[in-house]
Amino acid sequence: CFEGIAMAPPDPILGVSEAFRADTDAKKLNLGVGAYRTEELQPYVLDVVNKVSKLYLSNWYIAERLMLERSENKEYLPIEGLAAFNKVTAELLFGADNPVINQQRVATVQGLSGTGSLRLAAALIERYFPGAQVMISSPTWGNHKNIFNDARVPWSEYRYYDPKTVGLDFEGMISDIKAAPDGSFIVLHGCAHNPTGIDPTPEQWEKIADVIQEKNHIPFFDVAYQGFASGSLDEDASSVRLFAARGMELLVAQSYSKNLGLYAERIGAINVVCSSADAAARVKSQLKRIARPMYSNPPVHGARIVANVVGDPALFNEWKAEMEMMAGRIKNVRQKLFDSLSAKDKSGKDWSFILKQIGMFSFTGLNKTQSDNMTNKWHVYMTKDGRISLAGLSLAKCEYLADAIMDSYHN
Ligand code: LMR
Repeated sequence: CFEGIAMAPPDPILGVSEAFRADTDAKKLNLGVGAYRTEELQPYVLDVVNKVSKLYLSNWYIAERLMLERSENKEYLPIEGLAAFNKVTAELLFGADNPVINQQRVATVQGLSGTGSLRLAAALIERYFPGAQVMISSPTWGNHKNIFNDARVPWSEYRYYDPKTVGLDFEGMISDIKAAPDGSFIVLHGCAHNPTGIDPTPEQWEKIADVIQEKNHIPFFDVAYQGFASGSLDEDASSVRLFAARGMELLVAQSYSKNLGLYAERIGAINVVCSSADAAARVKSQLKRIARPMYSNPPVHGARIVANVVGDPALFNEWKAEMEMMAGRIKNVRQKLFDSLSAKDKSGKDWSFILKQIGMFSFTGLNKTQSDNMTNKWHVYMTKDGRISLAGLSLAKCEYLADAIMDSYHN
């Protein structure tokens, strides 16, 4: 009976890593998935995470003793997740003294990182707002479409990227959000837009909030890079806080994959800001009801790491310093790539958009054929929309990458 099942295509992002692993060429470079690597192109476990994890892993005896001391065990978490994690994650996002926190207007549920948290929210929309339109940016992170498709939530796109300027199509974005049916859910990237690396300015965020408010839309933020984009946790949350300060209801999915490097721990949260504490309690109860038949309750390890790092002032400061270090390394390769391209390109093309983009990615403007050339001829693995992850690039490989881009772009 399974004979009739066709082969699924590889995932446009995670499938790139599979193809990379299969390539035996020594020059190969994986700029597909957004995962931070060191200058030696090795995966990086943050020092703060190592410190906290050692509390659990150093040896059986210490781990057992600590577990007893802290009354930590392997029993199921509550459906909504670890209370200490849910508290710190909402505070990190909104700021501990934000009225939405003090007034208990946020329903926070631990999720399986960004994807799992978005999926919970999508199921909530499907159940309580049947037929509501979700608007996603064009382009957006590829998995957004899968998530809403699988949750059977209708979506359409608003203009975002302008290929002519390799910048934001702000007019297009505003007019598409205006044209959406009242009460639509508008998916926004809190910072470091994926895949373009192009964010609205603070003034543009205000205008976006004006239109969303006028239309009674509900902002739905995806925050996957808090602290990682600018190096400042507060600055990277400013878009979300601006909307919350207007008293609006909103949704925010969070991920700790990038900023704490906890990719495989699957740790994040969905936060729903409601107009009253009472509504927040009811929304939370429904999110739990959705989570229970999906995966019952979330895993504990990543939640403990986040709660320990964010909840401990010394570790928290160390974490901020490490994030600045990671964001700084990416800025350095950005600069070097720009310098290499500008020096090599005799056509007069302006590559400065690379410097203007922020976060892990650069949207190169390479089309599918050119991206194929990058991979097939140069063994540079990247997504077919022309996105490269600068977090997977080292200073030493910038020249090689610039040669590959020149060859693919101009031939
Ligand atoms: C990416 O965009 O590369 C990351 O968010 C990883 C993923 O899950 O797609």
